[in-house]
Amino acid sequence: MAILDKHKILETNATLLLIFSFLVVTIGGIVQIAPLFWLENTIEKVEGMRPYTPLEMAGREVYIREGCYVCHSQMIRPMRDEVERYGHYSLAAESMYDHPFQWGSKRTGPDLARVGGRYSDDWHVDHMRDPQSVVPESVMPKYGYLERTMIDGKYIGDLMAANAIVGVPYTDEMIEAAQADFAAQADPDSDYDGLLERYGDKVNVRNFDGQPGVSEADALIAYLQMLGTLVDFSTFTPDASR
Ligand code: HEC
Repeated sequence: MAILDKHKILETNATLLLIFSFLVVTIGGIVQIAPLFWLENTIEKVEGMRPYTPLEMAGREVYIREGCYVCHSQMIRPMRDEVERYGHYSLAAESMYDHPFQWGSKRTGPDLARVGGRYSDDWHVDHMRDPQSVVPESVMPKYGYLERTMIDGKYIGDLMAANAIVGVPYTDEMIEAAQADFAAQADPDSDYDGLLERYGDKVNVRNFDGQPGVSEADALIAYLQMLGTLVDFSTFTPDASR
């Protein structure tokens, strides 16, 4: 019997077709999924990744609350046009402390995965207050109220404790010092040695919005200025090529 005839038996018998389709899908599924159980780590370890500082964490909360992800992704795909425009493609490890992740699925505005350090704090203040004043054709809404909304960071320790439960390596010391670290990062005149000890000396300590006190704009800009800057891509080599 020719192979085509044999296949005809399958095609004309619904039960047989169902059984064989199921078999094929099962084998395909196992081939894809099984290796993941034996891989020691599906996320390559990269140097430089650290949990967010309390102020950055508060900024991230504002980012999520305001729905910035509705217009902005944080995920540079490994394609030439994206890498040329935004920088090194995003690594899985770069969102390992994100709960929930902010990859997004829509780009009305540009990807923000590496926006940190691209603009000055002043630019961000102007842009948040009135995007059209710096980019006339922008369709981004105004967020001027963020700089008028002061926050005290009282809740941030609880948020960090919740993140610790799902695996973010916040220590008890970090959680206890959360509110102090929160205020210190936005005040370059404060004693912020503890903050740098806990989160590393690359942490930006500045008065981000240029006004006294800590506002939601301070937190949001601290968060934006850190995005994509933790891993040093001048020394980074992907695991696979080592
Ligand atoms: C309605 C869609 C929309 C929303 C919502 C939105 N943006 Fe934008 N955003 C844009 C567009 C369009 C641009 C490009 C023009 C510009 O720079 O204003 C942009 C640009 C930006 C840039 C400059 C990026 C670059 O590389 O030039 C930043 C930073 C930014 N947005 C942050 C935010 C933050 C933070 C929020 C939430 C508080 C937000 N956006 C909400 C549409 C949006």
